[in-house]
Amino acid sequence: MSLADRSRWPMTTEEEEEEERQNFIAIVTAFKQYKLFSSARVHKTESYLNTLKKEHQTMLLRYRNHLTKVRDCISTNDRVLQEMIKNVDHLFPNENKTSSDISNETNGHHVRKLKVQDLEKVQTMLKHVARDWSTVGELERKQCYGPIIEEIQKYYNEKDHDLSQIKVLVPGSGLARLSYDLACLGFYCEGNEVSLFMLIASNFVLNKCESKDQYTIYPWVHQYVNNLNREDQVAPVTFPDISPKSCGIKGQLYVSAGNFTQVYPDDNDWDCVVTCFFIDCANNVIEFIETIYRILKPNGIWINLGPLLYHFADINDENSIEPTFEDLLPIMRNIGFEIVKYETGVRTSYAQNPKSMLKQAYESIFWVCRKPLVNAENSM
Ligand SMILES: C[S@@+](CC[C@H](N)C(=O)[O-])C[C@H]1O[C@@H](n2cnc3c(N)ncnc32)[C@H](O)[C@@H]1O
Repeated sequence: MSLADRSRWPMTTEEEEEEERQNFIAIVTAFKQYKLFSSARVHKTESYLNTLKKEHQTMLLRYRNHLTKVRDCISTNDRVLQEMIKNVDHLFPNENKTSSDISNETNGHHVRKLKVQDLEKVQTMLKHVARDWSTVGELERKQCYGPIIEEIQKYYNEKDHDLSQIKVLVPGSGLARLSYDLACLGFYCEGNEVSLFMLIASNFVLNKCESKDQYTIYPWVHQYVNNLNREDQVAPVTFPDISPKSCGIKGQLYVSAGNFTQVYPDDNDWDCVVTCFFIDCANNVIEFIETIYRILKPNGIWINLGPLLYHFADINDENSIEPTFEDLLPIMRNIGFEIVKYETGVRTSYAQNPKSMLKQAYESIFWVCRKPLVNAENSM
């Protein structure tokens, strides 16, 4: 996997570059602080346990031993996370900065304050590794990526097309498994991702993992509630489920970093845009839909699957609109899309702990839209 061509990246001001640099350093720091942060939670429980009367402590002996196991799992996760952040400078747009510069800064004081959310995002990212790159995530991938892959193959099959010439973009590509699978089928595929947590992890899996099941993590170890058995919290997950380096990408795979609405200046450039659990990540979903329309070639296809969770809906200092699917349909048509088909109630889960007593499933929407030849030509 390579990083996509940087010459297309939007120009940034010095101020924006400084902000990006601070962000990069904060995220690397969050990886470094994972063990301290995650162990503090265990420590809190152990401290409370120590205050309980002796009889209760005796009754909870097994539970206390379990907490020691939780600590061990956190340590194992930490070792993998520290591997992930080795040599990640190339993911930072300012290539002149060396890892020792970054390392000095992360140990110093001139870094933006680390947020609890950054530390939680490292924990969440481990669940994404399970979703995209382990056998545990197989069912989820079948639910979420399966219908998309099936659909794209209806439009572009090997018999009628040279798939390496079919350009597929996957905005919000997360840990890049869908992009990878499409590249394996022969497509020219580019994932695009704004989150450095995701970019660091996908870079690790795609470029640094050498063999199948090389690493073990404990993605559910931070879930202290809704566990039926102690083992469920400390269930190991090995990754990657396949060796990405030796599985043979028939097409091409790239990953670009940055905000999807800013990274693609060229109109009419992509044959297909694929979005999975993505369009509700926008403050203004119309901006996403317009961008997809703009960058698609005339006759190009947009395939979408996911819910309308609207990630910013309940975040205090973020703006958000939450149009329903009923609202979105005429908006998509108004922008110029032809709605080829849609299906509601597609049962999908997302980074779900398979053993948890609390399970969430989405009744997702699946749709296929086309950018018509005629509208596109009229608008030029
Ligand atoms: C809910 S996750 C879905 C990831 C992946 N598609 C999957 O199904 O596992 C949405 C992803 O979109 C990314 N994202 C959100 N806004 C973005 C933007 N404006 N440009 C690029 N990526 C974005 C997030 O960082 C996150 O990784």
